Amino acid sequence: MLVAAALLSLIAAPALAWQYDNHTCAIHPQYYSCELSNSTLKTYDTCCTPVQGLVLVTQYWDTYTGLEKNGSVLPKNSWTIHGLWPDHCDGSYGQYCDLARQYDPVPSPNTTTGLANGTVVPPWKGGDIITPLLNKYAKYDLLAYINKFWKSQGSPDWTFWQHVLTRAKFSKHATCFSTYDVGNNNTNNCYGLEYANDTEASIIDFTESVVRAQIQYPTYTWLSNAGITPSNSTGYNLTSIQSVLTKASGAVPYLGCYGATKQILSEVWYYSHSLGRPQDSIFKPVNQTGSSSCNATAPLWYYQRTNGSEM
Ligand SMILES: *[C@@H]1O[C@H](CO)[C@@H](O)[C@H](O)[C@H]1NC(C)=O
Ligand SMILES: *[C@@H]1O[C@H](CO)[C@@H](O)[C@H](O)[C@H]1NC(C)=O
Ligand SMILES: *[C@@H]1O[C@H](CO)[C@@H](O)[C@H](O)[C@H]1NC(C)=O
Ligand SMILES: *[C@@H]1O[C@H](CO)[C@@H](O)[C@H](O)[C@H]1NC(C)=O
Ligand SMILES: *[C@@H]1O[C@H](CO)[C@@H](O)[C@H](O)[C@H]1NC(C)=O
Ligand SMILES: *[C@@H]1O[C@H](CO)[C@@H](O)[C@H](O)[C@H]1NC(C)=O
Ligand SMILES: *[C@@H]1O[C@H](CO)[C@@H](O)[C@H](O)[C@H]1NC(C)=O
Ligand SMILES: *[C@@H]1O[C@H](CO)[C@@H](O)[C@H](O)[C@H]1NC(C)=O
Ligand SMILES: *[C@@H]1O[C@H](CO)[C@@H](O)[C@H](O)[C@H]1NC(C)=O
Ligand SMILES: *[C@@H]1O[C@H](CO)[C@@H](O)[C@H](O)[C@H]1NC(C)=O
Ligand SMILES: *[C@@H]1O[C@H](CO)[C@@H](O)[C@H](O)[C@H]1NC(C)=O
Ligand SMILES: *[C@@H]1O[C@H](CO)[C@@H](O)[C@H](O)[C@H]1NC(C)=O
Repeated sequence: MLVAAALLSLIAAPALAWQYDNHTCAIHPQYYSCELSNSTLKTYDTCCTPVQGLVLVTQYWDTYTGLEKNGSVLPKNSWTIHGLWPDHCDGSYGQYCDLARQYDPVPSPNTTTGLANGTVVPPWKGGDIITPLLNKYAKYDLLAYINKFWKSQGSPDWTFWQHVLTRAKFSKHATCFSTYDVGNNNTNNCYGLEYANDTEASIIDFTESVVRAQIQYPTYTWLSNAGITPSNSTGYNLTSIQSVLTKASGAVPYLGCYGATKQILSEVWYYSHSLGRPQDSIFKPVNQTGSSSCNATAPLWYYQRTNGSEM
């Protein structure tokens, strides 16, 4: 026991081990993000536990894509992917952390701070990089999955993927998801020398993480198992939807609604702390940090998809 402890302390990562070296997370201790002690914060490996450790798995309920004519339809019996977000432990967040990996064609906000005096985020002009990348590495199954489940409304899906990707993961020191860092701006390089192109490795790694998280939170099935299915004639109240999802997921999620009276259900955000890398998807559910935007006193609409918008 003592020997094991001594050994562990020997192989524990030194503070921010430089760049490529020694980010084999199988070796390093795993921590729950947002639950590290101050002394651990000084020494742990940021490739192995995220710095911005409040992990949000977010999903949409849309009733149409707006690009049905182009063959873009919503997946039957499933909510769609919004993203995987690295919030600060207090619920605030950073974005566009690494401008060297900016692939969003329509940055929003358009400066790093969202204020007029922030650094301008230049729009990406190179088009879809994800589709060619996944084809290049024969990740056809992953591409088919995101084409089906990671849907945009009113714009091609890749624009939305690249928006989420850029905002969520490309990290400057101590902002966004550190476990996908590739060494820009004095960060670690979590991918080592194993890959010819670390940026490509990190994009594929993040896309897989998004998909793994989506599969772990089957919102549609959880609701339908409790008798809550999309309907254009029956409304559901917030407490019943929230209690079903709380019981199923382990903590109170955020529910998002729109419309003048906030009665149209459209979003869910599941909050968690990640044990080690969010890549591995070992999430400890925690309650939402804010409160749902949905109308708490009137029935909510969980609308059926538009005819022809679902397959
Ligand atoms: C990486 O690990 C090796 C083996 O433990 C060690 O010799 C080396 O100093 C480490 N490098 C860094 C930058 O920590
Ligand atoms: C940890 O560090 C933070 C910020 O430096 C400080 O506010 C907090 O009091 C410290 N917590 C403990 C338990 O020392
Ligand atoms: C939809 O398809 C039409 C016809 O093929 C094409 O001109 C248009 O650019 C497509 N729109 C989008 C947003 O992909
Ligand atoms: C690196 O960090 C500096 C200071 O925080 C910032 O001004 C710069 O835009 C960053 N560079 C990139 C490529 O993100
Ligand atoms: C950023 O967006 C705001 C509001 O949409 C606009 O007024 C401003 O001109 C934009 N700035 C840049 C640099 O594009
Ligand atoms: C940027 O603008 C905001 C509000 O407009 C202000 O509070 C802040 O001090 C400004 N920052 C800089 C660096 O000028
Ligand atoms: C690495 O891949 C990215 C994304 O495909 C690309 O933008 C970049 O140019 C590549 N870098 C090198 C050195 O090939
Ligand atoms: C919400 O629905 C539940 C279950 O049907 C019911 O017990 C509760 O009274 C309803 N609450 C409101 C505010 O309508
Ligand atoms: C909730 O819905 C009712 C009925 O439509 C409406 O009167 C009320 O203003 C709504 N509350 C909020 C906060 O929008
Ligand atoms: C989460 O919210 C539930 C329901 O409001 C409450 O019973 C529980 O104590 C909360 N958990 C924590 C850790 O605050
Ligand atoms: C249900 O209502 C929504 C909102 O009005 C609408 O977009 C959708 O097309 C409707 N679905 C069906 C099957 O009528
Ligand atoms: C959608 O299809 C259903 C059955 O196929 C039909 O009853 C309904 O009227 C249609 N709704 C609209 C808005 O076209």
